[in-house]
Amino acid sequence: MASRGKWGSRVGFILAAAGSAVGLGNIWRFPYITGKNGGALFVLIYFGCVVVLGLPVLLAELAVGRATCKNPVGAFQALRPGAKWHYTGYLGVVTAVMILSFYSVIAGWTVGYCCKTICGHFAAPGRGEVAAVFSAFIASPWLQIALLAFFIFLTVFIVSRGVAAGLESFARVLMPALFLLLLLLMGYSLTLPGAQKGLAFYLMPDFSEINGRVFLEAMGQAFFSLSLGMGTMLTYGSYLKKKENLVTAAAWVAVLDTSIAVLAGFIIFPALFSMNMAPDQGPGLVFAILPEIFAKIPGGMMFGAFFFLLLAVAALTSTISLLEVPVAFLIDERNWPRRRASVLVGGAALAFGIPSALSGGGVKFLSRLPLVHVDFLSLWDKVWGNISLSVGALLIAIFVAHVWKTSRALEEITAEGVRFRLARLWTIAIKYVCPLLILVVLVSQFF
Ligand code: PHE
Repeated sequence: MASRGKWGSRVGFILAAAGSAVGLGNIWRFPYITGKNGGALFVLIYFGCVVVLGLPVLLAELAVGRATCKNPVGAFQALRPGAKWHYTGYLGVVTAVMILSFYSVIAGWTVGYCCKTICGHFAAPGRGEVAAVFSAFIASPWLQIALLAFFIFLTVFIVSRGVAAGLESFARVLMPALFLLLLLLMGYSLTLPGAQKGLAFYLMPDFSEINGRVFLEAMGQAFFSLSLGMGTMLTYGSYLKKKENLVTAAAWVAVLDTSIAVLAGFIIFPALFSMNMAPDQGPGLVFAILPEIFAKIPGGMMFGAFFFLLLAVAALTSTISLLEVPVAFLIDERNWPRRRASVLVGGAALAFGIPSALSGGGVKFLSRLPLVHVDFLSLWDKVWGNISLSVGALLIAIFVAHVWKTSRALEEITAEGVRFRLARLWTIAIKYVCPLLILVVLVSQFF
């Protein structure tokens, strides 16, 4: 137990868990998925998913983690020995590696954009120039692979140092700085000419746009953004001391995470409509808008560089939590030293990340192969970042409610006299609402 490590303090845990939750999911993925799915209505459904599905599953994961002090595979085995439930843990471990692989590509973009901003590539862009810079950037295969490798290297370096030293100290200072910078940018974006159109898109739901895909995307985004459905929060919960209050921790994480996503929307959409750009342009959205904003603000280059740096750090606190899942598994179940586990899993994520890094095209001699035309980045994002997390969340909810039983979970949540006033609501949510809703949304995709 001692060798597994524990969080140094309560604030440290909340910041580290929030650091896992807050990342590219909020600032890169939330705006692009919102833009793709028609704006305000999606946002509304997303909020619903966070409250009705995200919070209950978050609490469930934390409880399983702390009750067992184990990685996802070991945790299911400990609570239900001899059954097949630990495959849910394996699914989480695989999902972690796969998300880490494409997530690090985008994280590499933030590093690249930080350098580009410093070098003045966006100082005074003409029409369409920012978009052209982006296309050229993602079509440079070696640069993409180098940035991916760099980011995975950073992640491995920190994770190999262990829980409190590696994860906690980072999250402490940088999260508040990111928050402040986002507030400033929002203030600027809202005063741009034509910002109202963006606000309308972001805030006034158009109910005629409703369809099954919007629900799936909102649900997947809620799990992705809160780092749920693959055992990240379970693993983080396993480093938590008994006297900590899981309910307030979960509430803090959800509130911080959601407010940062909302803030990002308030930056992107007013600026987007003010520049007459299309909201549904996909994963490149944020990278097309932000440099335009920075080019217009006085001192924007400095701002811009600092912003991309903070975004890279936010991404880093998330990649750390992704890598921590398979690493905790290898340490606990296979007795590997932390260092070796981090390096090997990092190497695997790098290998799996290469197709995503090459998604921007640019490798001419490969273009005759059929598979090369698949946009792996978007595909992985959908398969692992959405479907797999939703399936994982479904299994965790069923396990906690119907196998481990809510009474035992509640015992864990209310250990050492913690009060949980919404215990009944949580029980209903995790027993009936989460399993049914997730299942219906997933199954409805096939029709
Ligand atoms: N929640 C992280 C983000 O929003 C991504 C992530 C997903 C991290 C799943 C861990 C597990 O950026």
